[in-house]
Amino acid sequence: MKHTVQITIDGVTTELPVLEATVGLDVVDVRSLIQQGLYTYDPGFLSTAACDSAITYIDGDAGILTYRGYPIEQLADQSEHLEVCYLLLHGELPSAEALGAFKQDIADRMPIDDHFARLFDGFTTESHPMSMLCAAVAGLAAQFHEGLDIYNSEHRLESAKQLIAKIPTLAAMSYRKSINASFVAPDPNLGYAENFLNMCFGETGQPPKVSKTLADALDKIFILHADHEQNASTSTVRIAGSTEANPYAAIAAGIAALWGPSHGGANEAVLDMLMEIGSIDQVSDYVARAKDKDDPFKLMGFGHRVYKNFDPRATVMQASCHAVLAEQGVDDEPLLAVAKALETIAREEAYFVDRRLYPNIDFYSGITLKAMGIPTPMYTALFALGRMPGWIAHWSEMLSAPFKIGRPRQLYLGPNKRDYVPISDR
Ligand code: SDX
Repeated sequence: MKHTVQITIDGVTTELPVLEATVGLDVVDVRSLIQQGLYTYDPGFLSTAACDSAITYIDGDAGILTYRGYPIEQLADQSEHLEVCYLLLHGELPSAEALGAFKQDIADRMPIDDHFARLFDGFTTESHPMSMLCAAVAGLAAQFHEGLDIYNSEHRLESAKQLIAKIPTLAAMSYRKSINASFVAPDPNLGYAENFLNMCFGETGQPPKVSKTLADALDKIFILHADHEQNASTSTVRIAGSTEANPYAAIAAGIAALWGPSHGGANEAVLDMLMEIGSIDQVSDYVARAKDKDDPFKLMGFGHRVYKNFDPRATVMQASCHAVLAEQGVDDEPLLAVAKALETIAREEAYFVDRRLYPNIDFYSGITLKAMGIPTPMYTALFALGRMPGWIAHWSEMLSAPFKIGRPRQLYLGPNKRDYVPISDR
């Protein structure tokens, strides 16, 4: 403990301990404040540390993001998604032997049995992939519930492997259902991102025809999305997990939270926005709408609760985006001209500069995924695929030490006590 702070209420002074971070902001431990008859008040948790964690560190002003201490730029440049999954789960980079064994474990767990696949019969080609993915992951709880001891670290690791292995298969099945196509089974000889692309765009019985450039770009996108500290969906997983719920159910809750356009749904919303704007001569009208407090329109893919100068993932994503656009020969897309015009405005116009609204990862991932030929409704499902190791690492971290059920209080502004009035007297 570093030192204390004092708070004086009605003449009574309370010492609150300050707990020291390895790096970044220290925290005031307010747990004893309730004894003074007071709660803290922080809607949206802008100034609240809900837990301690050793997984991911973000410095929003300096644009720093590390997974277990390793900078995101180095991991994106030198690692691969399954190695990052191992790092997030175990806290250390694997040896070559450990990575090989982990990859085999994931490959062995990718298949979905035909009986479970019939879950998708309940959906139509109009069903959004995120609704199918959320239902399918929750459905896995039926397969992995009896005998699962969440306090057993081996059971938690098995749950992690099952979820990391099955999320690409289920996401691909969601896509195939949306185009009314038969499912393509995972191929144990393919890499993780390559397998996903083949399950989406390949054909059963045909040799895989996946571009290495696209598979590498997608693997990098998964790395960039793998974890992000206590964001809304991860906090949802922690809260759901704090009730001792089945981990597959807790992760399904995280998928549901990710779907919102203010969070993981932004990448899909970015493309819908660019399509709606349509051409650069419409940009100024939409920027005016984004600044108008009476207009709910926001520039999707801009702004971030934590990053106030730049999103380091967006920087990596931007480079990857240009490489994919060049490879696909689509760098003259009218939508790209709109995106570039918005980027310029966000850097120059006072409204955006004053509020420190910069393009975030969703701005570039949406454009990159479109260039890769991924259909827009699949974008958030891909975000969920990438974020899976982060969600499960936070769940497991919470379960590996003493924890309390998440149960915030409130500032009550409703009516004071009053007696019931019989309907005849109202
Ligand atoms: C992700 O938390 C994470 O780590 C999330 C994530 C992860 O990896 O898990 O990084 C992934 O969710 C990225 C963000 C994706 N969402 C979007 O791109 C949607 C558009 N962005 C906004 O909805 C907003 O910027 C948020 C939700 C991202 C952040 O909201 P905050 O921190 O609550 O900020 P705010 O809404 O209080 O905005 C501050 C000001 C307001 O104006 P004033 O009232 O001060 O005048 O900025 C304005 C807002 O109106 N503003 C915007 C804007 N974002 C904020 N104005 C226009 N367009 C925008 N996009």
